[in-house]
Amino acid sequence: MSLDSFARKIPKAELNLHLEGAVAAATVADLAKRNGVALPPFDSPAELYHFHDLPTFLVVYNLVCESIRTAADFQRATFEMLERCADSGARYVEFFFSPHAHLAHGVQYPTMLEGIVAGMRQAEKQYGVKSNVIPAHSRELGPEQGEVFLDMVLAHKIPEVIGIGLDYNEAPFPAAPFAKMYARAEAAGLKRTTHAGENGPASNIRDGIKLLHVNRIDHGYRVVDDPALMAECRELGIPFTCCPTATSYTPGWGDLTALDHPIRQMMDQGLHVTLHSDDPTMIPSTLAGEYLVVAEKFALSPDHVKKLALASLAATWLDDATKQAWAKEWSAEIDRLIESELP
Ligand code: ADE
Repeated sequence: MSLDSFARKIPKAELNLHLEGAVAAATVADLAKRNGVALPPFDSPAELYHFHDLPTFLVVYNLVCESIRTAADFQRATFEMLERCADSGARYVEFFFSPHAHLAHGVQYPTMLEGIVAGMRQAEKQYGVKSNVIPAHSRELGPEQGEVFLDMVLAHKIPEVIGIGLDYNEAPFPAAPFAKMYARAEAAGLKRTTHAGENGPASNIRDGIKLLHVNRIDHGYRVVDDPALMAECRELGIPFTCCPTATSYTPGWGDLTALDHPIRQMMDQGLHVTLHSDDPTMIPSTLAGEYLVVAEKFALSPDHVKKLALASLAATWLDDATKQAWAKEWSAEIDRLIESELP
C-alpha cells in the first residue's frame, strides 16, 4: 500500500470544516437554480471558487450560503460533505455552519437544524461516520449580535449541537469582545472554540484561552510569533485545528516545504496539532489529502502520522470513555495498517 492509501485508510476525526465551504460547485449551481439565486457564470469549480485571500473568499462563501434554502438543501449539503469525509477515513466529524448567512435570506434556524441532522443521520446509516455540529457566530457582526445568536442556539438546543465557534474575518475583529457571550455558553454547558491567529495576531489566541475559555483554537498559526504563548499552550495541551492547504490563502505561507512554515514550527514545538480540511470544495482539498501533504512535505514517519490521527481524536468533544475506547481501537487498526501495508 502507498502512503496515499495509508493516509486515506487511517481512522481520523475532522474538526475544522465549514459545511458551506464543503459544497460541490455542481451542487451549488443546482441549488441556486432551484432557489432562483443568481450566481456569476462559471464553467468549472475553479471559476466559481475564485478568490485570493480570506475577505474575497468570504464573499463567495456567502453566495454559497444564499443558495441553500430548504431543509432538503441542508440535508443534501450535509450528506454530501460527510460522504466525502467518510471517503477520507473520517470516523467522526465536528463541523461548523453559519446560521446568520442563512437567516439573512429568511431561512429559520430550526429549518437549518432539521436538514443538517437528517443529513448526519443519513451519512451515519450509510457510511458509519458519526458527527456533531457547531453553529459559528460571524465575528464581523459583533458581540451584541453574538448574544442574539447564543439565545437562538440555546432556545433550540439539541444533543447534536455540542458547542459554538467564532469565525469570519479575524484581522479587524478581535476575540476579546466576545468574552461575555462565551461565558454564557460555558455556563449553558456548550463547548467552545474560536478561529484565532489565522489572519489575526497571536493576542487573539491568548484572549481566546484566557477570556473566552475555549477548549481549542482553530488554525492558530500566529502562535509562532509569541514563544511564551507557545510554551503556555504546550503546557495546557490546547489543541490547534490546522488546515495545511488553506494556509496558502494566508499571506506568506504558500509553501508547505518552507522550514519556517507555522504548522511545521507548531509540530516541532510539541503543540497539540491536528489536521483538517477547512473549506474543502472551495479551497480544493480532502481530509486524507491534508495528512498526505503534511506527511510528504514534512517527511513524517508512519508513527508520526499515527500520532496525528490519534491527536485528532483526543481533540474531539466526545466524552472521555468514548475517546479512550476509540483510541484503543484506532491505535490497533493503524498498527495493523503500518505492519501489513507500508513497505
Ligand atoms: N469561514 C469559512 N472558512 C473560514 C476560515 N478559514 N476562516 C474564517 N472564517 C471562515
